[in-house]
Amino acid sequence: MKFKYKVPEMDQQYDDFKKQVKDSSDIVDVISGYVSLQKKGRYYWACCPFHGEKTPSFCVDKERQFFYCYGCHTGGDVFTFVQKIENSTFPEAVKTLAGRANIPVPESHRTAADIRREEKRKDMYRINDLACRYFSACLHKTKPGAAALEYFHNRGITDAIIERFSLGFSLPSFNALEFNLTKKGCTREQLAAAGLIRDKNGSCRDVFINRVMIPIKDPRGKVIAFGGRVMDDGLPKYLNTGETDVFQKRETLFGLDVAIKPIREAKEAIIVEGYMDAISLHAAGINRAVASLGTAFSEQHAKLLHRITENVVFAYDSDDAGRRNAVRAVSIAKKAGLSVKVLNVPEGKDPDAFVRKSGKEAFENLVKNAWDGTEFQIRYTISKNNVSELAGKVQCVSNIIPYLQECKTEIEAAGYIKFLAQQLVIDEGLIMGEYRKKAAAHFSRSNPSLQIPVPSAQSVPSTLERAESKLLLLFFRYSGLIDSYHEILQQIGFASPVRQSIYEKICKLGNVDFSTVKESLFAADDAEINAETARILAGEDFATDEESRKQIADDCIRRMQQNFLQRAYEDHRRLAETYASMNDPRFNDEIKICNELRGKITKLYGN
Ligand code: UTP
Ligand code: MN
Repeated sequence: MKFKYKVPEMDQQYDDFKKQVKDSSDIVDVISGYVSLQKKGRYYWACCPFHGEKTPSFCVDKERQFFYCYGCHTGGDVFTFVQKIENSTFPEAVKTLAGRANIPVPESHRTAADIRREEKRKDMYRINDLACRYFSACLHKTKPGAAALEYFHNRGITDAIIERFSLGFSLPSFNALEFNLTKKGCTREQLAAAGLIRDKNGSCRDVFINRVMIPIKDPRGKVIAFGGRVMDDGLPKYLNTGETDVFQKRETLFGLDVAIKPIREAKEAIIVEGYMDAISLHAAGINRAVASLGTAFSEQHAKLLHRITENVVFAYDSDDAGRRNAVRAVSIAKKAGLSVKVLNVPEGKDPDAFVRKSGKEAFENLVKNAWDGTEFQIRYTISKNNVSELAGKVQCVSNIIPYLQECKTEIEAAGYIKFLAQQLVIDEGLIMGEYRKKAAAHFSRSNPSLQIPVPSAQSVPSTLERAESKLLLLFFRYSGLIDSYHEILQQIGFASPVRQSIYEKICKLGNVDFSTVKESLFAADDAEINAETARILAGEDFATDEESRKQIADDCIRRMQQNFLQRAYEDHRRLAETYASMNDPRFNDEIKICNELRGKITKLYGN
């Protein structure tokens, strides 16, 4: 029964609740969950998320707990911010923040929907826990489980580690989990919602079949998802639970539940790319390791770690993809205020292979000798430019300056400028000049011709990545589509070189059936291509009618086009700045191109 008018004590209770939520929701923390803030003096700055801009005029005052945009004059407290950015009502914003701070909504203000949501979450935890126990029993107590146990042992994973990570095994059967868990009172709907079974054309199937099972837990040790690995060279190598109410990839670090204490004690976290790398480091007695699970290291990951420690060391695979990921991850970690190092695993090995071959001490030595994050970014960028020529050097400096701007102090930046000057054999003063100018252009409007506003980049890497993968999956499955997009793709291409090569391979194969395409791709003998192909093939199935498939492809293309233009814009803007610094008249041409590109981008976004 609902009362139209709230009784006074209830409102008092709600006011207290609101106050408690506000006190536990620091505005800088909350806002940096949405945009990346940079501290300059007393305030934090960012490009305004409420209107398109390229230079920050959105300002957050931590002391007084409010925000204000000098561009579009939006402002308010933490509740206003959440309301606007989530496009929600005031009570919804309060609830969002309450959820974030783990503050229960007072009984009297819980709506039926709130209660249902909470029940659903609780169910999800219970089901994942049951599944975890079940997989563990399958590993230890069944005949086929013996092979899985042997697989773990062969990879140097001891029984103690199996227990620490609650590792398990899914039987080679289509419905074993469903059968077992429905007996324990779970419904099919619940199992499907938790990503454990899948309804395929009306018949249910377990998602994880004949795989070694790796539970993913939240920092309190509650199971929220699973990764399942094949025990041979089958594909896809891993299946993972999709995102659910209790599992968001970008906010989860695998192994954090068991690593949290060691990280606190060592005052340092080691971040790896794969489940197996993390597990293997623990097995070797290096307990401060966590994994970012194939997704890019995110701002949320950085913030999560920052609550526990000041120092992180990235131990990514030493192939080019791994190093590229590390460069990006370093930036994110630096911006979150962490001190960052990157270690170099020799001989193209991943941390798992290295630590198993060379042992704990050798790995700890790598940590000791790890490069500082910025030094790593600089060295990597140098290796990617042709710095034997002047143009290459200019480009290289221009690429590196953003990394210098991420440094905590000017002194630190100055140190790297010196280092960079030595590496490139150019005058330190020149780099310093560029650096100063960029820093100034960043925050003052002294050079208005360079203040070219661009609609805020909606194409964050993950959506672009998704678009590219989806498009490729469509091509895999429906090769008839390839021709219609040939021309545009010739122009814009794929942002990821790996996906570009996969695309080229598919084109070469032309109109052959799906399994042939699959086979010839996996025959590529290129680990990166194989892994990426596997990842793409693990994607969702598509609608069956041609019309909607075409629509999906069009959407993907548009995303990619946006990104393509955005990248071109960035390149020309950088060139314009370089010319401007040299008083070169070609500056004007570049600005013209920038303006044209901006027009195109706006048009695309307008759609
Ligand atoms: P890796 O291929 O490096 O995995 O991918 P790994 O953990 O080192 O596994 P092993 O040593 O080959 O057994 C890194 C991470 O990317 C995700 C997983 O989270 C994996 O740990 N991944 C990879 C997938 O989700 N699916 C895949 O098919 C492959
Ligand atoms: Mn590996």
